[in-house]
Amino acid sequence: MIETQVKAAEKISFRPGTVKDAQRMWEIDQACFEPGISYTIEIFYYHLLINRDPSFVAVDDGQIIGFILTSKTEKATGLLVTIDILEGYRRRGLGAKLLEIAEQAQKKRGCRTIKLQVDVKNRAAIGFYTEMGYVKKKHLRDYYGPGRDAFLYSKDI
Ligand SMILES: CC(C)(COP(=O)(O)OP(=O)(O)OC[C@H]1O[C@@H](n2cnc3c(N)ncnc32)[C@H](O)[C@@H]1OP(=O)(O)O)[C@@H](O)C(=O)NCCC(=O)NCCS
Repeated sequence: MIETQVKAAEKISFRPGTVKDAQRMWEIDQACFEPGISYTIEIFYYHLLINRDPSFVAVDDGQIIGFILTSKTEKATGLLVTIDILEGYRRRGLGAKLLEIAEQAQKKRGCRTIKLQVDVKNRAAIGFYTEMGYVKKKHLRDYYGPGRDAFLYSKDI
């Protein structure tokens, strides 16, 4: 069971994610999304172990409470695989901080654009990405399965 209780004197730090964090990232992803939208544990190992894609975690008192996982598709295009913040830690600027760190890392990797897919029903994430400068580009019908659409968003960095 994922702990979402927030301590009063929280002190959040940020660091790159590693393959040792895959299990915890997966648990947080399971807590954030319904089946069909959440990722399998294999996806985390694929990105962190095989691809060695950049990821970053937010840590409170030694425990990961949020993370961002990125990848690269074409030459200069980065992909935001997911960004997940445990419920009790949202609206504190942690998602914005993780996204800024990841965008810098993607820029260093040679990316000039970052794209992502988001569930059309995920109003929080759409509000977040819009605030962070991402622009809706396409409506992807049945992206998550029949009747479950996504939007493609992107941002030039
Ligand atoms: C989307 C998510 C990562 C945002 O993380 P967060 O740490 O809460 O975001 P921040 O506090 O950095 O928010 C920055 C700004 O984004 C916007 N924003 C964030 N959450 C929002 C919401 N629920 N509704 C509308 N706008 C929102 C606001 O402008 C916010 O600034 P403000 O709080 O000063 O108004 C978080 O809600 C989450 O983990 N959701 C579940 C997983 C998920 O859907 N991930 C996206 C995958 S596509």
